[in-house]
Amino acid sequence: MSGLFISFEGGEGSGKSTQSDMLVARLEAECSRRVVRLHEPGGTPLGEYIRDWVKAQSAPLTLQAELLLFVASRAELVQRVIRPELEADSIIVADRYADSTTVYQGNARGLPLKDVRAANAIATGGIWPDLTFLLDVLPDASLRRAGFQMSFNEGGQVEPVPRADDTGKRRFEELSTPFHRKVRDGYLQLAKTEPDRWVVLDASQPAETVHAQVWERVQGLLAP
Ligand code: TYD
Repeated sequence: MSGLFISFEGGEGSGKSTQSDMLVARLEAECSRRVVRLHEPGGTPLGEYIRDWVKAQSAPLTLQAELLLFVASRAELVQRVIRPELEADSIIVADRYADSTTVYQGNARGLPLKDVRAANAIATGGIWPDLTFLLDVLPDASLRRAGFQMSFNEGGQVEPVPRADDTGKRRFEELSTPFHRKVRDGYLQLAKTEPDRWVVLDASQPAETVHAQVWERVQGLLAP
């Protein structure tokens, strides 16, 4: 496959959407290849349906069902969009991919990592990004950026509470800071085990600075 596959990973409020948008705009301006922006879950009719359905639930799903829904969405996305686009030499910019499942369902929610890996293997069919940017930021700062407000719980501890979203739908995000710490630690661990694919960036820097660091790495992968 001759295309280029780039993903952004990180916790809530780490700036993945902003960086994806900035990279897509830059690629479109500076290179003649087709650029496809994706956001998981989503990107296909089934993926969008799963996204809306999961958001609309007021009671938590079982961890196993949640895992299978995320990977079902991904399986459809890989077969119908990612594989054909890569075969057609496109550049894919993905706001989350299979690493999100490893970290959220595995490291943070606690499903056995071998099960999560097996599910991801089915969904990805072995297609992994050429380059993955981890937008690393301390959980408290990222939660504030994601629209959480800090409030005191009954024990007097500060905990993040999500602000109501426009549609009144449940947000995906977990509430507790320990959960987000597990997410961050999970990502840092993944980045360490595959240093050739991962680039860890300090996402507390201004968006333009982060983008310049992203662009430097991406440029190195673009054929002259
Ligand atoms: P979203 O509203 O898209 O937020 P973000 O901008 O952070 O991507 O919500 C996606 C949520 O779904 C986010 O909390 C991470 C979670 N998620 C998983 O738990 N597993 C997955 O495989 C994916 C793709 C996302």
